[in-house]
Amino acid sequence: MKYLFFDTITSTNTYLKDNYKKFSTFTIACTKHQSEGRGRMGRKWISYDDLLFSILIKDDIINPSEISLKIANSIRKVLLEYNITSTIKWPNDIMIKDNKVCGILLEAVTVNKIECVVIGVGLNTNTTDFPSDLRVKATSLKKHLNFDIDNKELLYKIINKFYDDYYNDNDYINDINKYFYLKGKEVSFLFNNKTETGKVLRLNNDGSISIETSNNIININYGEITLNNVYKETL
Ligand code: BTN
Repeated sequence: MKYLFFDTITSTNTYLKDNYKKFSTFTIACTKHQSEGRGRMGRKWISYDDLLFSILIKDDIINPSEISLKIANSIRKVLLEYNITSTIKWPNDIMIKDNKVCGILLEAVTVNKIECVVIGVGLNTNTTDFPSDLRVKATSLKKHLNFDIDNKELLYKIINKFYDDYYNDNDYINDINKYFYLKGKEVSFLFNNKTETGKVLRLNNDGSISIETSNNIININYGEITLNNVYKETL
């Protein structure tokens, strides 16, 4: 494992993707600020005194979605050490009740095959005031714990847990099903060019989710599903 610490950088994901040839697997880039922090679907990731890091993985990568579920589960377990119960909102958010505490951005560099995967994590630790116009309401660890979080200490805990889980955790699907934010929620999604509505049943071993519609059970992979009712938003 190799740690690279920055005060300011454009984006830890961009940095590791641009420099993956120089570094070996499990190189971690962590920064206090990002000038061009990125979220999923081309969104910006804005953060103040929070934990921002990316992990470079260069092993043979067969199933990137497994990596993103595993890191989410490792972070969930570390949060439990702080007495915080969180749930995983497939595919990549970690929630405390209905508020997002952590986002994960998984990116790959592909030249014929997957050369590397970069896992970017933005974990709200010490921010307490969030803009009111956020798409999904946000929260932070400090809001729940009422003390300042030592970002470096938390980083080491997460990396150690994930390093272990990445190679040895074969139970992460079961774990996530126990802490599955979407379970039982009504969602709509596009299937064969038709909008369907149904209730989320579970996360499957291949990383897809099962949704029960009025006349069928449909498995869907990563993609756009929309939570209905109070949870109306696009994942
Ligand atoms: C999301 O929920 O949209 C994913 C957010 C991921 C943000 C992290 S912060 C560290 C890393 N560098 C980036 O530019 N993005 C990820």
